[in-house]
Amino acid sequence: MLATRVVTRTAAPLRSLPAVQCLRAQSTWSGVPQGPPDAILGITEAFKKDPSGEKINLGVGAYRDDKGKPTAEQQVVQQNMDKEYAGITGVPDFGSAAALLAYGPDSAPLKEGRIAMTQSISGTGALRIGGAFLHRFFPGAKAIYIPTPSWANHKAVFSDSGLEVKQYRYYNKDTIGLDFDGMVEDIKKMPKGSMILLHACAHNPTGVDPTEQQWRSISDAVKEGGHYPFFDMAYQGFASGDTDKDAFALRHFIKEGHQPCLAQSFAKNMGLYGERVGAFSVVTASPEEKARVDSQVKILVRPLYSNPPVHGARIASTILKDPALNKQWLGEVKGMADRIIEMRALLKENLEKLGSKHSWNHITDQIGMFAYTGLNAEQMTKLAEEHSVYATKDGRISVAGITSQNVGRLAEAIYKVKG
Ligand SMILES: Cc1ncc(COP(=O)(O)O)c(C=O)c1O
Repeated sequence: MLATRVVTRTAAPLRSLPAVQCLRAQSTWSGVPQGPPDAILGITEAFKKDPSGEKINLGVGAYRDDKGKPTAEQQVVQQNMDKEYAGITGVPDFGSAAALLAYGPDSAPLKEGRIAMTQSISGTGALRIGGAFLHRFFPGAKAIYIPTPSWANHKAVFSDSGLEVKQYRYYNKDTIGLDFDGMVEDIKKMPKGSMILLHACAHNPTGVDPTEQQWRSISDAVKEGGHYPFFDMAYQGFASGDTDKDAFALRHFIKEGHQPCLAQSFAKNMGLYGERVGAFSVVTASPEEKARVDSQVKILVRPLYSNPPVHGARIASTILKDPALNKQWLGEVKGMADRIIEMRALLKENLEKLGSKHSWNHITDQIGMFAYTGLNAEQMTKLAEEHSVYATKDGRISVAGITSQNVGRLAEAIYKVKG
């Protein structure tokens, strides 16, 4: 590859110039600034280097389990299906099954054929298509409000889609819980008709979700402001173990007359991380409006990646459509969620047994794969350097990394650092 360019000056013949001036190293990319290091990669590397036999990695948010996937994958492989392109909006069976899972069999817009749906490159891709669609067609201000804090990628995804990203209060660091009053107050203060991103369940990174009652009030406040809700549902089933319960907020908003859009991911709840299976959908007012939205989503997707990959979507739709596999999967999702709930309880119990005077109720009040411990950056550094426990500096730990074998040691480490 050509990494240097020969720089010549027209005024002086090449031969008469000193060699250093003739061949000036000037890469095309010399002006590209270095981006910040990846926090999770940093944790993974520090973890790898640590010689301790008792080290614990709670940085990465991945649950490793089968979740019915091998059986479904075998079914797909045995069918010896072609590798032809899918349509722009993906594998049709997958789209209808994903919509049914999210919106539920009683969903009015689903029954009435007014949900525009497209398969996406997992949850991130769904958010990105959503961002692009809103940027192009949302009739109001091109700004979206996200919670403080939110999944680290939300800001980048929406900014790169051309939207301005603003924030609303969500987490109260004093209670290590939801700042419900702050959230509702901020929703009420937003300019009329604003776009607002809501985590449907298992809020990442805090693990703090509104209660059903609080969701009702949030829906009222969003309606009062004439705001437009965008739900990000990356963990359906992972929070409570029940895919219907975890879809409560989305379904409640729809019952209340909102017409939200939705990003779905099958990375976590089906263990299809690297297959990149997700969906973006928009609830519209009529089948005719749906058709117009569909056509524009296609126009957006086509120049991005033409059409999505088929394999993961076939696995997901097999799991969703085959009654026996579906039952098995729902059981396994429940098993995952229950294990996480159990590990939370064990961690709290161990901390209390050690004599910690702090309240650890937040560990069991929070939900989903992540727990916000309330530990500060300095305490998290100590946890890594002195106790070989690795997680992000914001105090977030992945509960999926806790086991009945390491929970005692983890509690001891937290107790030594925090008291
Ligand atoms: C809140 C939230 N949304 C979306 C995603 C997207 O995940 P993926 O693109 O792997 O489906 C994640 C992943 O961690 C997430 O936590």
